[in-house]
Amino acid sequence: MKITIKHGFIQEEPTEAVVVNLFEGVTEPGGATGALDRALGGAIRDLIAAGDFKGRLNETAVLYPRGAIPAQRALIVGLGKEEKFDLDKVRQAAGTAAKRLRDLGVKSFATIVHGAGAGGISVEAAAQAVVEGSVLALYQFREHKHLEPEEEAKEVEEVTLLEADEARVAQVEEGARVGQIVAEAACLVRDLGNQPGNVATPTMLAETAQRIAQEHGLRCQVLDRAQIEELGMGAFLSVARGSQEPLTFIILEHNADREDLPTLVLVGKGITFDSGGISIKGREKMGLMKFDMCGGAAVLGTLQAVARLDLPLHVVGLVPATENLPSGTATRPGDIVRAMSGKTIEVISTDAEGRMILADGLAYAQRYQPAAVIDLATLTGACVVALGHHAIGLMGNHPELIARLKEAGQASGERVWELPLWEEYHEQIKSDVADMKNAGGRPAGAITGAALLSKFAEGYPWAHLDIAGTAWTEEAKKPYISKGGTGVGVRLLVELLQNWAPLE
Ligand code: BES
Ligand code: MN
Ligand code: ZN
Repeated sequence: MKITIKHGFIQEEPTEAVVVNLFEGVTEPGGATGALDRALGGAIRDLIAAGDFKGRLNETAVLYPRGAIPAQRALIVGLGKEEKFDLDKVRQAAGTAAKRLRDLGVKSFATIVHGAGAGGISVEAAAQAVVEGSVLALYQFREHKHLEPEEEAKEVEEVTLLEADEARVAQVEEGARVGQIVAEAACLVRDLGNQPGNVATPTMLAETAQRIAQEHGLRCQVLDRAQIEELGMGAFLSVARGSQEPLTFIILEHNADREDLPTLVLVGKGITFDSGGISIKGREKMGLMKFDMCGGAAVLGTLQAVARLDLPLHVVGLVPATENLPSGTATRPGDIVRAMSGKTIEVISTDAEGRMILADGLAYAQRYQPAAVIDLATLTGACVVALGHHAIGLMGNHPELIARLKEAGQASGERVWELPLWEEYHEQIKSDVADMKNAGGRPAGAITGAALLSKFAEGYPWAHLDIAGTAWTEEAKKPYISKGGTGVGVRLLVELLQNWAPLE
């Protein structure tokens, strides 16, 4: 989709539709909405006075100007109560408007930058949020579904951001550029998540990484079984034993060899299908476990965004990728495996496979002597029980890194919530026969998962993001988050990396 930035006035723009907004309870609109209202001879004030438009968040009304302005339609979108206004409302309002206009068959429209300069929101941040909301809301996954011709034709091709103040145009351009890069990366992550397990295989993820590398100038290396064995990644290999699909270990690097830059490593769980293995899951909803590679996909998407933004950092993405299936060669409960770090793990449950592959990914990260390492994983059902679908679970070994992730979560709208990683929880994964066991029972399941990871995340600041509750959704959550993969992680990590400064 094309995003265009223009200096101009909404009431003068010749286009299929123009978009303005209204806070709840406002009866005398000002700013661009006021200017449009005057050009329309008071039609917006009439609409409000009649009680037909209240300005509630994501409420919409379409007006037909009958030649009063050059645009064919005027769409008003509600922003909700002014005291509750924030960047996420901007994303939502932009997403609502974009979808409403797509449904009307509009191919090109112009919108004002909702929230620019209001309530402490910068022009850049508002423009970024408008573009994110629009691009994310218009996302559809339709590779495998034949549509009716009239549905097929409904596709927005161009969104224009109109800025009336010439002095702000450069800021709108900058925010929109970042928004488009971030949203397109999130859409890539959604695509990978939405693809079924027979399409998004470990090999396909590796090929995708190679394509991203080629298109955006990254270095990509894919380790095969022989190299993974050579490295001694026994924990990762133990998960792959039941699958016929070749496992891959993907390394994607921005600014490789730039030793002058700080190194940040992102590690993503790439289980392309999680049946549970011999500790097999119930049949109910097992198909959703195609999304178990969303952490890995988020790492690939973030690397794409980081490359397009050309951030002055050395960023490394690591994705151990495999299926978790039962078979005659699969790992059994009770087996003991030796991870790359040399530590041994007793497999209590073959369904606790994410931590196994991440253990080796985190150990591999040490070779970069990173300034920080962040892993992303759909790690535990327990995280979904604890936080539901509205927050990413956050744990780690470095308070400042954790604080920064909380800030980035607030700014990006991908909110995180910290869970404690106290010493006491480590008791639960003590083993009688190995250095640790891979499952710690039902209490605090999200924490004991992280506790195992912490034993491999040694020698660097580390944070773990459990995205089990946020990586996909079974119902549309917000105007810009529809059913299926959410692309979670990209917005959060780009926000963190854009503001990166050495940790204390
Ligand atoms: N991929 C799952 C976690 C998951 C479950 C994510 C449901 C999203 C929705 C993970 O591999 C898993 O099976 N974890 C087990 C761990 C347990 C055996 C210690 C779990 O959460 O039950
Ligand atoms: Mn599992
Ligand atoms: Zn899993």
